[in-house]
Amino acid sequence: MKTVRVNASRSYEVKIGSGLLETVGSETAKLTAGQALVVSDENVAPLYLPKVVGSLRQAGLTASSASVPAGEPAKSPEYYVNLLNILAAKRLTRSDAVIALGGGVVGDLAGFAAATYLRGIPVVQIPTTLLAMVDSSVGGKTAIDLPAGKNLVGAFHQPSLVLCDPDALSTLPEDVLRDGCAEVIKTAVLFDRDLFDHLRDRSTGFDREAVIARCVEHKRDVVCRDEFDTGERQLLNLGHTVGHAVEKCSGYAVSHGKAVAVGTAIMARAFSKDADEILSVLRAFGLPTETAFSPEELASAALSDKKRSGDTLTLVVPERIGRASLKKITVGDLLDVIRAGY
Ligand SMILES: NC(=O)c1ccc[n+]([C@@H]2O[C@H](COP(=O)([O-])OP(=O)(O)OC[C@H]3O[C@@H](n4cnc5c(N)ncnc54)[C@H](O)[C@@H]3O)[C@@H](O)[C@H]2O)c1
Ligand SMILES: [Zn+2]
Repeated sequence: MKTVRVNASRSYEVKIGSGLLETVGSETAKLTAGQALVVSDENVAPLYLPKVVGSLRQAGLTASSASVPAGEPAKSPEYYVNLLNILAAKRLTRSDAVIALGGGVVGDLAGFAAATYLRGIPVVQIPTTLLAMVDSSVGGKTAIDLPAGKNLVGAFHQPSLVLCDPDALSTLPEDVLRDGCAEVIKTAVLFDRDLFDHLRDRSTGFDREAVIARCVEHKRDVVCRDEFDTGERQLLNLGHTVGHAVEKCSGYAVSHGKAVAVGTAIMARAFSKDADEILSVLRAFGLPTETAFSPEELASAALSDKKRSGDTLTLVVPERIGRASLKKITVGDLLDVIRAGY
C-alpha cells in the first residue's frame, strides 16, 4: 500500500492499495464516530456498496446509502437537491461524513453536496474509475452541471480521506479504463519522464498501484502550489482545450479521455520535441490521435468554452516529456496552433 499526504487547506491522506475497500469502516471511524451516507451510482452500487456499507457497520458506524443513475446527467441540480434532502432527512451533522463511492461523476456530485450542506461536512472519496483515482478524487474540486455547460456550479472542498483500491478497476469496462489511461499519459507527458517510460515499456500492463500513486503525487504537488486554480494548476488541462472542442463537436459521442488524447496529440505535434514518442504511447493504449473535425470547427467550438477570459486563452504547451509550460495566446491564434498540430 502507498500513502500520499496532501497538505492543502485541509491535510489528508490518499491511500492506494489492493484490498482497501475492506478497510473503509476502520478508516472512516478514525474521522467520525457518527453516521456515514454512502453515495454511489447504479453500476457501482451492486458491485461494491454491500462491502463498503458492511465494513462501516462492522466498525460501529451508522451507515446508509443513496444511489444515482450512472453517467454525467446525475451531476444535475435535481440530483444535487435530492441528495441534500436525503442528508437533511437523515439529520447528518458536521461530525458525520459523506462517502463518495464511484467515478468522477459520483465524486463531483457527492463532493459538492458535502461542500454545501451545513456549509460543509466531511467527504471521503472512494474512487472506482482510473480517472477518479488519478485525477478527480484528489484536489478538492467539486461541481455539478447546468444546461449552459459542464461544471458551472461548484466549490473547492478537500476530502478528509481518499481510498483508492485498484482491485475495483477489474470490473471497469475496457473503454472507461482506456479513458482514464489518457489522463495518466497526460500526467506523464506533463511531469514525469520515468513514468512515461514505464507506460511505454509496459503499455496497458502497467503497475497500477505504482502508477496511480505517482499520478496522485504529481496532482498533489500542483494542487498544493495552486489549490484555487489561478496559475500552475491549469497545467492539468493539457489537451483539454482542444479535447473539449472534440467532445462538443461530436455532441459528446466521443468520450472525454479519447477527446483529451486527440487534444494532447494536437498540442504535441504543434509544440513538443518528443511528439513522435507521445503519439506512439497514445496509440499503444488504443487512444485516438486524429479527429475528423476540421481545425476551423475545433477552434470555433473551443472558443465558446467557459475557460476563456476576454481576448486571450491559456494553452498548456508540452515542451519535452516531463516538461510543460503555460502560454497565453490571443483567441485569433488558436486556429493557427490547431492547424500546426493537426
Ligand atoms: N473534480 C475534478 O477535479 C475532476 C477532474 C476530472 C474529471 N472530473 C469529472 O469526472 C467525471 C468523469 O468521471 P469518470 O470518467 O470516472 O466517469 P463516471 O463517474 O461516469 O464513471 C464512468 C462509468 O463507469 C462506471 N463505473 C465506475 N466505477 C466502476 C467500476 N469499478 N466497475 C464498473 N463500472 C464502474 C460508472 O457507473 C459509469 O458508467 C466528469 O463529470 C468530470 O467533469 C472531475
Ligand atoms: Zn480530463
